[in-house]
Amino acid sequence: MESNRIQNLKNQAISSILEAQSDEELEELRIAYLGRKGRITQLLKEIPSLSPSERKEIGQLANDAKNAIEQALADSKRAQVAKEIDIDKEWLDVTAPGKRPSVGHLHLVTEAIQEITTIFEKIGFTRVAYPEVEWDWYAFEGLNMPENHPARDEWETLYIDHLENKKYGHAVLTPHTSSGQLREMKRLGKPPIRMLNIAKCYRRQSDVSHAPMFYQFEGLVIDKGINITHLKGTLDYFAKQYFGPNRKTRIRPFHFQFTEPSIEVDVSCDICQGKGCRLCKQGWLELGGAGMVHPIVLKNGGIDPEKYTGFAFGWGVERVLMMKAGLKIDDLRLLYTNDLRFLKQF
Ligand code: PHE
Repeated sequence: MESNRIQNLKNQAISSILEAQSDEELEELRIAYLGRKGRITQLLKEIPSLSPSERKEIGQLANDAKNAIEQALADSKRAQVAKEIDIDKEWLDVTAPGKRPSVGHLHLVTEAIQEITTIFEKIGFTRVAYPEVEWDWYAFEGLNMPENHPARDEWETLYIDHLENKKYGHAVLTPHTSSGQLREMKRLGKPPIRMLNIAKCYRRQSDVSHAPMFYQFEGLVIDKGINITHLKGTLDYFAKQYFGPNRKTRIRPFHFQFTEPSIEVDVSCDICQGKGCRLCKQGWLELGGAGMVHPIVLKNGGIDPEKYTGFAFGWGVERVLMMKAGLKIDDLRLLYTNDLRFLKQF
């Protein structure tokens, strides 16, 4: 079987298609070439019996011919349809309402980040962003969690292979925004500090209330005479601004290596109104931790703990977003599936 034969067959088919006058004729041609016993179909059937080298070349040509003929048939059908429409009988209703182009909007999480930023900027916080790929020292060691400290286990950290710094240790995908505390202390050199660090964080976890990539926002305030009442006041201010006056918050004693004392802050669940549901379990959703900055952390950041004190808090952006009035999202991971049917609702 030579390639010329295939070429001729293709040309023949296409010129007959171009000359065809009706749908019926086109259908006959389709059967003659591409039907079950059609000439191209026969040709394709012979291919397996060819030698391997021929098989490749002939196979390619035969397939090209098949595609070209299919395309010619489709084009002719379209032309046929166009001919049948009588332009004089067509009319255009210029008063009919137009089709609106669909308008997009910012992603829910982006909107939440903007809102949180505005709330904290009003009370003098400066928004910063620090690396997502971070050194161990900033994420753990400098935060009073030396290597092999059991507290590290809580962060289910993703390590980066073969990337290490002599002074700062292994590279990790930052598991929390607390790494920004040390970076901000070093950046400014001395208080006053009022930082709002919003960044992507990564952990090895995935369920209805956890995604492997999520956002945290971290507040850090350091100055002379800062005490826990300033922390409490800041948390209350945020809760009122963001959730509205009807939502309840509570604080519980907790433990973090980098704060002393440490607390955890919860907000009442808006989905079940505090009764308990698939998302929150007991009516409260954990927003995240907070506490007074540990003297060791201040020292590591180059700040004299005898002179200055500070507080810090670190919460999940998606968490606060889900707990906000009116939003009934019962699986946090929906935020990142990029399904327009979900996103368009908001
Ligand atoms: N970094 C902690 C976490 O990811 C939260 C936290 C931030 C706790 C600041 C105390 C102070 O869980």
